Amino acid sequence: MGFNVAGMSRRRTVFKKTYDGQKNLFLQGDITKKQMVQASIRKIVRRFGTIDIFIHAAGNTHRAPFHKVTCSAWNRVIDTNLKGAYYCLRDIIPLMRGKGGSILLIGSVGAFASWEDEAVYQIAKTGLLAMARAVALENAKYNIRANVLCPGLIDAPMLTSLINSKDAPKDFRRELLRDVPLNRLGETNDVVNAAVFMTSQWASYITGTALLVDGGYCAR
Ligand SMILES: NC(=O)c1ccc[n+]([C@@H]2O[C@H](COP(=O)([O-])OP(=O)(O)OC[C@H]3O[C@@H](n4cnc5c(N)ncnc54)[C@H](OP(=O)(O)O)[C@@H]3O)[C@@H](O)[C@H]2O)c1
Repeated sequence: MGFNVAGMSRRRTVFKKTYDGQKNLFLQGDITKKQMVQASIRKIVRRFGTIDIFIHAAGNTHRAPFHKVTCSAWNRVIDTNLKGAYYCLRDIIPLMRGKGGSILLIGSVGAFASWEDEAVYQIAKTGLLAMARAVALENAKYNIRANVLCPGLIDAPMLTSLINSKDAPKDFRRELLRDVPLNRLGETNDVVNAAVFMTSQWASYITGTALLVDGGYCAR
């Protein structure tokens, strides 16, 4: 689509497969480290001049009953899903205030529905809704839009590692599909297509809200 793409994650291999190329920039880094985020944003600006679209997709989870969540697990999940977005936006909003921009935070159906043993993840993703609303309100006059995209059960690593884990119940995939009216797991492209729409001019009147991409999961 003619964009320059910069991306950051801890493992180079993940990003290289998809984006490494002449007009793209991969920055190996940890979103939970403030100075690393600041340095990465400076590098992006040196290379491309500014940032027009920002997507925060870094995420992880921890499975345990709420009262058994350790402090280190709490910090790991909140820092990656929620605080990482804050670290990025502190530096990206001032850049975007010059000529506008679009911010998309990748949330989850977990911000709208609860299930057992994943409360920290649900809490972090719910926090992103408040973050997007606040950022949208404070920056509408600068033509900056901020939204959350909330995927449901997607055939992507976070879910597939759970489905394939040794503790997963037999027929877990089939069991999960009972909760999805469209009767299939989402594909990565279902999320990508929605993200392209939400960050594009087609969505120029959409801000401070969330879009569910969940095959009807939350409609039940
Ligand atoms: N799969 C689903 O069903 C589903 C459903 C709803 C929402 N989501 C959300 O969609 C997003 C992508 O999930 P996925 O299923 O595609 O799983 P994934 O491949 O594990 O995606 C997580 C990404 O976050 C990056 N990341 C994790 N910790 C990081 C850190 N400290 N610093 C920088 N990058 C970090 C990982 O790269 P590195 O490990 O290389 O750092 C990885 O690329 C997540 O936010 C997830 O919560 C997924």
